[in-house]
Amino acid sequence: MSDKKSKSVDVVANIVSLAKRRGFVFQSSEIYGGLNGCWDYGPLGVELLRNIKEEWWKSMTYREDVEGIDASILMHPRVWEASGHVENFTDPMVDCKICKARFRLDTLGDSISQKNKDKILNELKLELNDNTFLIDMIDSIIANAGDEDPFNLLLEDNLLGKLLIPKLNCPQCGNTKSFTDARKFNLMFKTFIGPVEDSSSVVYLRPETAQGIFVNFLNVQSSARQKLPFGIAQIGKAFRNEINTKNFLFRTREFEQMEMQFFVNPKNDKEWFDYWKNERLNWYKMLGMNPSKLRYHDHPKNKLAHYAKEATDIEYEFPFGWGEIEGIHNRTDFDLSRHEEYSSKSLKYFDDETKEKYVPYIIETSAGASRGFMAFLIDAYYEEKVNGEIRAVLKFHPKLAPIKAAIFPLVNKDGMPEIAREIEKDLRRNLKVFYDDKGAIGRRYRRQDEAGTPYCITVDTQTTEDRTVTVRDRDSMQQERILIDNLKQYLFDKLSK
Ligand code: GAP
Repeated sequence: MSDKKSKSVDVVANIVSLAKRRGFVFQSSEIYGGLNGCWDYGPLGVELLRNIKEEWWKSMTYREDVEGIDASILMHPRVWEASGHVENFTDPMVDCKICKARFRLDTLGDSISQKNKDKILNELKLELNDNTFLIDMIDSIIANAGDEDPFNLLLEDNLLGKLLIPKLNCPQCGNTKSFTDARKFNLMFKTFIGPVEDSSSVVYLRPETAQGIFVNFLNVQSSARQKLPFGIAQIGKAFRNEINTKNFLFRTREFEQMEMQFFVNPKNDKEWFDYWKNERLNWYKMLGMNPSKLRYHDHPKNKLAHYAKEATDIEYEFPFGWGEIEGIHNRTDFDLSRHEEYSSKSLKYFDDETKEKYVPYIIETSAGASRGFMAFLIDAYYEEKVNGEIRAVLKFHPKLAPIKAAIFPLVNKDGMPEIAREIEKDLRRNLKVFYDDKGAIGRRYRRQDEAGTPYCITVDTQTTEDRTVTVRDRDSMQQERILIDNLKQYLFDKLSK
């Protein structure tokens, strides 16, 4: 493993360990050995997640032109035929006939060393020496791979994949010639509605929240008396039977999405795509994410999904590399037209002013709440040397911090606990606060640093004389004295920035 790679594993391992120790994230069903790809949010994690969703909700729906909804997770099965998920939401997979492990074809090459890949390709080219068509095809795929692994692209190609797969060793058991042919594996979870478990009662756990918005387009537009352009936003769980769950919360089987579909006149699609692209990147920056770790990844025209006219990912630089945290798509009229076709209901919009009738285009912003959670957590994590000791601190934006303030009596006597409890009671009415009277004050500060609490309030001897307390800032570690009577307003001002 390269130095860079092992360092990134260390950072993720430290964060996973801190997340468990401090109650941000636990493995699902841990006492039974865990359930792969599923995670539980603990007391601090649930606050962070709720704060992320709350900030998204406020920024997306506290405006005139976006309405919110909360659609059901189970939807009519025809929805997923119309959306193309039944047919296309698949990953090509191979199984090892000996150890029974299953692998995604598009990532199988990741477990093979470059030296081995070169050897396998050279071998294949030698075997193909009179087939210039296939050799040209290999060279062209390699030349146009961009930032993707060309070997994985070759494996995904129908023709070349068939020739390459028998040459690979199974990454799990090491056997060769043990793979089945590639097969399509649908990522939607199936269940049954009603008492009879047969094909007529199959329903799916939604793999994205977007479809609940598309099918409600006219309900929302007419009930909220909205005119185009306007959007519909939703936060909710989505489920995908991912084959390779990896990197903690990055790719899980159950996760949350925060999606907004903005319905526009097709003539104005570019203007709105650019608008939302800008808005969404700024949202992460405004919540304190390091701008140098954020970038756009514009999809090249030849890589666009079949329904998209333009697409951009907002990527974050995780310790294991750049990864998408949000997708912004111009989905054209694809979704509404398909739902018109499959439901036989018109989803056209009539514009009173221009007297035009048309199927709107949709600009989609699709963020992962759980993937965003991981990015915010990693971005906030710092280890600093303070007085010869390592201080682990989560420098969350105050709006995201799970606990807003901690209250400490310096000692458990001389009237200090009573005043500290009084402050706690008063603040608790509006803020998530924490009371701690255990251990040395330095240790109490460190515990709150690790939880990401932006302010620590200490009641000391001076408090009993002049009713002032110290307020310590998590990041600068500086303290200032504030009158108890001004404390609430002081915190509100700081937390609303
Ligand atoms: N409606 C469009 C859509 O669902 P997507 O790119 O498949 O697009 C959007 O997903 C976002 O949802 C991603 O940017 C990511 O943040 C999150 N996401 C997707 N699959 C995920 C998974 N298996 N685990 C965690 N988050 C996921």
